This record gives sequence, structure tokens and C-alpha cells, in this order.
Amino acid sequence: MDTAELDEIIEQAIGVSQDRHQLWVNLSSRLKCRSVCEVGVWKGQFAETLLTQVAQIEHYTLIDPWRNLPDWNKPANKTDIEFEEIRNEALRRVSPFLDKVTEIRDTTRNAQSQIPDRSLDLAYIDGDHTLRGITIDLHAMLPKIHKDGFIGGDDFTKTIWQHSQEYSPSEVFPYAIYFCEAQGLPIYTLPFNQFLIVNAQTGFRVIDHGGYATLTPAQIYARPRAQKLRKKLKKFLKA
Ligand SMILES: C[S@@+](CC[C@H](N)C(=O)[O-])C[C@H]1O[C@@H](n2cnc3c(N)ncnc32)[C@H](O)[C@@H]1O
Repeated sequence: MDTAELDEIIEQAIGVSQDRHQLWVNLSSRLKCRSVCEVGVWKGQFAETLLTQVAQIEHYTLIDPWRNLPDWNKPANKTDIEFEEIRNEALRRVSPFLDKVTEIRDTTRNAQSQIPDRSLDLAYIDGDHTLRGITIDLHAMLPKIHKDGFIGGDDFTKTIWQHSQEYSPSEVFPYAIYFCEAQGLPIYTLPFNQFLIVNAQTGFRVIDHGGYATLTPAQIYARPRAQKLRKKLKKFLKA
């Protein structure tokens, strides 16, 4: 598939999608993804959507430790008991597709050795969104992707302060952009806080469907309180 063709497919998928799930159903079907891996599965809603609505998916790998992680400072870091229930729900949701599903109950860093290199059409990254987490996930998953395959992901938030300030910031954006620049890969920013990287040595290129290009450092990095104060000050100075 050449670049113009890919650009068109992605644009079309965006045009017919009303939410994140629909977007990935449309993208993964149009991009003919057969072998998919989801990093960070939680209760399995996303896996269930893709397995139900994209019949061409032949193999779906679930990576999630489903346990409390002492070094993960995010609101979804529940107790081991809660995670047991969360995993049960995920397994219930994917149970009609057990012949297609492989579960790796571990962190990405430990799970990567169980996935053969160049075996995936799409890795969807939705696990640990801290700087440490997205760094590990992108570096671990890139070698697993077929030539011309894809890495997608969630929580590509325009501010790093996705959660309240007691939690670590989410740095999927802008880190994924810099990762692509370093690796010489194209990256599409998408609606609904999503991104798509292409494992093609066609050079670094940002195709900005999500409206990230005009963000200022203050919008990305300033703490919410500082942003509120800045807005108030602007209003005051205008009056
Ligand atoms: C936001 S939830 C995933 C939501 C899911 N993808 C969906 O769309 O329904 C994040 C998940 O990432 C998992 N997680 C956290 N750290 C991880 C790591 N280092 N490796 C893999 N998964 C991780 C958590 O256990 C949690 O279930």
C-alpha cells in the first residue's frame, strides 16, 4: 500500500467513526489486520468490540498483569482482589473467541519475549501511560510489528495532566511523536485521543488529524491550576 492510499484509508475511517471503538473497527478492517495485540486490557471492552466486529482478526493477544503494580501511580492501579474480578470480566467478554485469543498475564516488559518478532499487524497500546510506560511499550512492541504494520494507541491526551496532580502525568503525547522522529516513522494523530504509527521506513512525518500541531508548551505541560490562572489573567487584561 503506498502512502497516498494509506492516507486515504485513514481519512475515510475517521470520517465514518463516531467514537474510539468505531474508529479502530474501521481502521483495523480497512488496514486488513489479522494478528492483533492489545497492551493493557482492563475489563476487555475494547477486545470484545474488535473481536465481535472485525471477523478477519485471526489472532488476538491480551497483555495485562491484572495485578497491583507498586511502581504505577495511576487511578486504574487497583488492589489484587479487584484486579482478579476485572480479569474475570475481560475473560468473560472474550470467551466466544477463545480459539483466537492468547492471554499473557504480565507487564509488557516481561511479556515481550513471548511474542515473536514481526508477527503482528497491529499492536494497540493502552497500558501504562506514564513516560516510563509508553517508552517501554513502544520500544518493546516495534520489533513485533510486520513491515508496513501498525502501532495504535489510546490516551494521546493533549495535556499531560490527564488525572489529578497526585498521579503521574500521561506522556503518550508528545513522547510517541519523538519516538517516531527518532525511528524515522510516519505517525497519524487521530480524533478521540488516538494515534497510529506505521512501521514503514518512509521517513518521519506527522499527519495531524487530531489537531495537535498548534498546541503550545503551556497547553501541554502547564498544571490545570496554572492554566486556569493564565486564562483569568488573559480575560482580565482584555477587559
Ligand atoms: C486504561 S486500562 C486499558 C483499557 C482497555 N484497553 C480498553 O480499552 O478497554 C489500563 C490497563 O493497563 C494495564 N497495565 C498497567 N501497567 C501495565 C504494563 N506495564 N504492562 C501491561 N499492562 C499494564 C492495567 O492493568 C490496566 O488493566
